[in-house]
Amino acid sequence: MTWSAADVPDLSGRTALVTGASGGIGRETARVLAAHGAHVVLACRSEQRARAVAEWAGGSTEVVELDLASLDSVRRAAARVRDRHARLDLLVNNAGVMFPSYGRTADGFEVHLGVNHLGHFALTGLLLGLMSGVPGSRVVTVGSLAHRVGLGGFDADRARSGSGRRSVTAYGRSKLANLLFARELQRRLTAAGAATVSLAAHPGLSPTGLWHGDPPAVLRPVVAAGMRWLAQPAQAAALPSLRAATDPQVPRGAYLGPARRFGSRGAPVPARSSRAARDAAAQARLWELSEELTGVRYEFASAPGPGPGEPAAGVCPVMGSRG
Ligand SMILES: NC(=O)c1ccc[n+]([C@@H]2O[C@H](COP(=O)([O-])OP(=O)(O)OC[C@H]3O[C@@H](n4cnc5c(N)ncnc54)[C@H](OP(=O)(O)O)[C@@H]3O)[C@@H](O)[C@H]2O)c1
Repeated sequence: MTWSAADVPDLSGRTALVTGASGGIGRETARVLAAHGAHVVLACRSEQRARAVAEWAGGSTEVVELDLASLDSVRRAAARVRDRHARLDLLVNNAGVMFPSYGRTADGFEVHLGVNHLGHFALTGLLLGLMSGVPGSRVVTVGSLAHRVGLGGFDADRARSGSGRRSVTAYGRSKLANLLFARELQRRLTAAGAATVSLAAHPGLSPTGLWHGDPPAVLRPVVAAGMRWLAQPAQAAALPSLRAATDPQVPRGAYLGPARRFGSRGAPVPARSSRAARDAAAQARLWELSEELTGVRYEFASAPGPGPGEPAAGVCPVMGSRG
């Protein structure tokens, strides 16, 4: 049977944080989570846009200012969430940029890698303490079909390059980094015996604000044609993230995406990633580089072993009860 938003379980008593909830797929993800009873933290760089989403979405929400292009902002946002909440059930690393108007982040990182990966790497590390003891807690990281064009590898020089602003490869690399990160996070969580699981999702193709950047001219006709034939609305594009976030049947470390038209649209199902995304050595290397660049080192706390009736390793546990 096709999975849809109607399959999201009751999330009453759960707290979720969605980055980039001010528009597109993140806004839709936040709306559906709130509609199913979760308290949703809208982590956005514009407080004004986030407040408009809070009003539109209804349910229980709050706004936290977060600019992933600044590690200071990431630290402030994480501190605010830690001050306000004793636990976090769900973190959706959704925000992203493609061909933006600026080339480097406040910390001097190539903009795609800085916002899409390094900002989320730091945020996740700073929030993991709120999650690792919470049964069924999940980190969902949003990748892209474009991870397949993320060529060239990762190193400190490239991470600080100012020439990626209009580069398809640089965007692709940041999305490859999202997948490498999600897998390495799952590996480390498993090794630590933590209660949290890490998953990844990609939305296919959707005509959101992401495409309002400044792409290389050669790409514009391709994008226009692609949007006509392949794209799906944000409501459908949010389903892989929502399924990864809430479906108890998906395995730990899973990667979900749309089923049809080369993965560009359709219902959320297990997706295929490139060989580069499955390279365990590359996953470990990127983790070390990310720690070095952000200064954020993860602390993994183990959880109590599975109780009677709880799922064995390999199966994604259902979100546990509060208290
Ligand atoms: N749409 C697609 O076809 C497609 C395809 C593959 C993957 N994706 C991925 O899907 C995710 C969501 O993108 P979308 O399509 O929904 O695009 P979108 O409509 O442009 O939304 C992106 C969100 O990220 C936020 N954001 C951008 N820079 C930020 C920063 N420095 N700090 C914090 N938040 C920031 C934006 O905030 P503002 O409102 O402040 O700009 C917005 O809320 C991204 O990870 C993207 O790579 C999208």
